Amino acid sequence: MTEKKPYYITTPIYYPSAKLHIGHAYCTTIADSIARFKRLAGYDVFFLTGSDEHGLKIQQKAEEAGVTPIEYTDKIVASFQNLWKKLNISNDDFIRTTQERHIQVVQEIFRRIYAKGDIYKGKYTGLYCTPCESYWTEHQLDENGCCPDCHRPVQEVSEEAYFFKMSKYADRVLKYIEDNPDFIQPVSRRNEMINFIKQGLDDLCISRTSFNWGIPVPTDPKHVIYVWFDALTNYLTPIGFLDDPEKFQKYWPADLHLVGKEIVRFHTIIWPCILMALDLPLPKKVYGHGWLIVDGDKMSKSKGNVVDPIALIDEFSADAIRYFLLREINLGQDGNFSRDALIQRINSDLANDLGNLLHRTLNMIGKFQDGVVLAPQGESDIDLSLRADAKETVDFFRDNMENMQLSLTIKKVWAFISRANKYIDETAPWALAKDPEKKQELANVLYNLVESLRTISVLISPFMPQTAERIWKQLNLPQAFADVQLTDIETWGGTPAGLHVGTPEQLFPRIEVEKEDKEAAKAQAKQAKQAKAEKKQKQAKQAEPGEVTIDDFKKLELRVAKVLKAEKVEKADKLLKLTVDLGTEQREVVSGIAKNYTIDDIVGKNVILVANLKPAKIRGVVSHGMILAAADNKDLKVVSVDMPAGTEVH
Ligand code: MSP
Repeated sequence: MTEKKPYYITTPIYYPSAKLHIGHAYCTTIADSIARFKRLAGYDVFFLTGSDEHGLKIQQKAEEAGVTPIEYTDKIVASFQNLWKKLNISNDDFIRTTQERHIQVVQEIFRRIYAKGDIYKGKYTGLYCTPCESYWTEHQLDENGCCPDCHRPVQEVSEEAYFFKMSKYADRVLKYIEDNPDFIQPVSRRNEMINFIKQGLDDLCISRTSFNWGIPVPTDPKHVIYVWFDALTNYLTPIGFLDDPEKFQKYWPADLHLVGKEIVRFHTIIWPCILMALDLPLPKKVYGHGWLIVDGDKMSKSKGNVVDPIALIDEFSADAIRYFLLREINLGQDGNFSRDALIQRINSDLANDLGNLLHRTLNMIGKFQDGVVLAPQGESDIDLSLRADAKETVDFFRDNMENMQLSLTIKKVWAFISRANKYIDETAPWALAKDPEKKQELANVLYNLVESLRTISVLISPFMPQTAERIWKQLNLPQAFADVQLTDIETWGGTPAGLHVGTPEQLFPRIEVEKEDKEAAKAQAKQAKQAKAEKKQKQAKQAEPGEVTIDDFKKLELRVAKVLKAEKVEKADKLLKLTVDLGTEQREVVSGIAKNYTIDDIVGKNVILVANLKPAKIRGVVSHGMILAAADNKDLKVVSVDMPAGTEVH
């Protein structure tokens, strides 16, 4: 027997700072379906999820709860594990960053990179709020320049810290991303990352001394290691990085890190730099999926629209929730969760289309053939077309699941379910049963229906594992469901003649919409009341038309920039391309000042740059920001100040 090909897939490890919501369940369900598909397709899959338990935030939450951090995370992590069990997540391991096996890995990685000279000791400077033990940046402060949490004054402090030389790897990471178009997907996220790196990478501060809930730096234990440095390395721990070279060789590099869109940056920039420093190959793919929003709004505690997956599973079943999430949302985009849409899908796709097909088929076999599937003989045109549709669906499934087209695949499988229901109407077995001459024709039709259901059971198994198995069991197929492979449905005719099918059991009860409506109306009224109160609060803070609030103004990052170099832009007589120094980095900015400044005039000036303006391409040159200038019809002067490059302007 040939060795199975390995496939290593991961989800992010979740923060146990609160219970998980339906958005987290979405991410893990996607990964689970891919893992299940790969197993079906004959891969040796290793599927990892876990919890990311260190950091100041967890320490503070534990303090608020009056327990130790580990007591705090133990409890929440148990609730994660319970959720994954209820949702039938088939992970092969669950990593906790507080486990000894992981602590050893992180410390060893720190040691190796330090020994290589890519970690060094330096000074971290920030604004510190002593009562909150938190560091803030200028932009995060409240309107009085105080701590945004407790609104007390902050102090500028600098603490000794270890830094990781990310800047050393910037060019190599950029080249890797450019040379490997499949590495970051979807492509929109890839472009974002390329632009980000092109602005230059700073070295990363990877240790703190202001709190202690973390993994100590091995040679300097008053420092704890930065939580993302600790978290990202989780992907190496369970596959034997330290203790099982054979296993490690087999599964690394990972085939897929599936992550939410907001953490693609950590996985495609920081993580590759760490791996390069360790001389390890990079993961084959990082896929940034979109966010699940609720009734058109982002989930948040304050909006009161956080959807608890456990309550939903208890109400509608794990498979119904999995089906909805995977079918309704296109992987790379944001998608909406709504109770109404969920109920509609359950009633139409699950209770009606799928449930009826099974029920009608088993009923007819019971009634017309004493529950026995008879051997088929000969085929009509309709039979042949059903079989061709089944083959096309299986082919589509294989190809599209390889490309992570989950929603498209589900739609295709459901088109086949409808096709099989139509086949019943077209062949009218109840009429065939009345005619003794048509016994074989009836046997053929019922055989084809069972074979269709056998195929469907396998095709839905990555998405709805329990339902797939229930169908398999009701069909009473002799093969153990756990052993079924995709190859088992690649050839039509796997149902053995003489099979005794079981009695039909309802797969999904229909949800009574009227009763539901009342419940939903109540919930909606409550939410609307809350939303109204919030809107009022918000309005009180909002500006009159034409005005901006201090919060609006604070969104702008204005900084002093020293012009290092200026060049004319080809075929654009008003434009100069400037290279400016922002203290921590250099950037290119295009500015419409060529008619008013010569190159010699502008070089050396300290101007003001809108530093967080979205980069824009101007005459083929990407401009990372905008220089402020005062101008009328006749004259133009850049705003310049006698302050060092990098100084913030407020
Ligand atoms: N601990 C880090 C990840 C470290 S991985 C080395 C983290 N944790 S998290 O709990 O905040 O988020 C975990 C994942 O949940 C992220 O991929 C995030 O995108 C995802 N989601 C959180 N809310 C979500 C939705 N509403 N919708 C979809 N996914 C969402 O980040």
